[in-house]
Amino acid sequence: MRILVAGGAGYIGSCTTEYLLDRGHEICVFDALLNGHRQAVDERAQFVYGNLEDYNAIDKAIKDFKPEGVIHFAAFIEVGESMKLPGKYFRNNVANAMNLAEACATNAVRKIVFSSTAATYGMPKNIPIREDEPTIPINAYGESKLMFEKVLVWYEKIHGLQYTALRYFNAAGATEKHGEDHNPETHLIPLVLQAAEGKRPHISVFGTDYDTPDGTCIRDYIHVLDLAQAHLLALENQTSGAYNLGTGNGHSVKSIIDTVKSVTGKDFKVEYADRRPGDPARLIADSTAAKKVLGWKPMYDDINAIVESAWKWRLKFPNGYQN
Ligand code: UFG
Repeated sequence: MRILVAGGAGYIGSCTTEYLLDRGHEICVFDALLNGHRQAVDERAQFVYGNLEDYNAIDKAIKDFKPEGVIHFAAFIEVGESMKLPGKYFRNNVANAMNLAEACATNAVRKIVFSSTAATYGMPKNIPIREDEPTIPINAYGESKLMFEKVLVWYEKIHGLQYTALRYFNAAGATEKHGEDHNPETHLIPLVLQAAEGKRPHISVFGTDYDTPDGTCIRDYIHVLDLAQAHLLALENQTSGAYNLGTGNGHSVKSIIDTVKSVTGKDFKVEYADRRPGDPARLIADSTAAKKVLGWKPMYDDINAIVESAWKWRLKFPNGYQN
């Protein structure tokens, strides 16, 4: 397939691009390099430097490359920032994304696969979470992703543009070539790995009084290559819908710290801090629908293997993409 990957210079986008290229697909990465890295773009992919705010740029990229499918990763992802600068999130994650949807519809792209998020559910009542759980986001980031899912529903009805929204739980891990390098880093596993490397004086645990067995938040960490696999299956699938992607296993913040200590063999300081506003106690996916409808078969259900892949990548690229 010819696939245009918007946001292919970011973490999940770069790993997915690598996965698709390894399977013989032709890829054009379209990225404004706002948070992504030019070095993260696989050398086998074409690269177009462009921003989705510019309709003509994305329209031209699609006209030139003629993709059958488009994957959309090009969004802002920081929950905390979204609660300070909601306009930044709605403008990029909704308005700019609509330029992509419009260009897809205009140029008869068959399918768009969209990076959505468990943040669309807010504080879910039922765990594990199925797709029929009410979507009531508690931050502007989650709302922006849900809004674009709704835009896609209408583009399908009106223009026939098929869509798959993939609601990721906590993306983690790395390939041998590509990994997680955010600036600033806010995600748990890379931060704990930085503490293990001695690059941070300690790791802070945000909240120890949650209603969970050890009092810390529980998340469902899913390997980035399992996410990549789901994107390819979604492109091959001829229907539209939204699917949760997670392992169905929950890991507490404390248990992630213990896993990092055992995988790296390093000890480091742990500090217990207040809760971070807006964190649900537990987020665990029920991914039955993705398995049934898309044929998704996640390969990594062992948290040690997930953390180990991230650690190996950091050892190889100690300064991330700044090398
Ligand atoms: N945490 C700490 N200390 C830190 C960083 C995080 O204790 O220094 C805790 C958080 O409070 C949370 C857990 O570790 O309980 C995981 O936090 P992350 O920031 O790694 O991930 P989140 O679960 O907050 O968010 C992730 C993605 C979002 C997405 C969400 C959906 O980053 O984009 O999952 O589940 F919306």
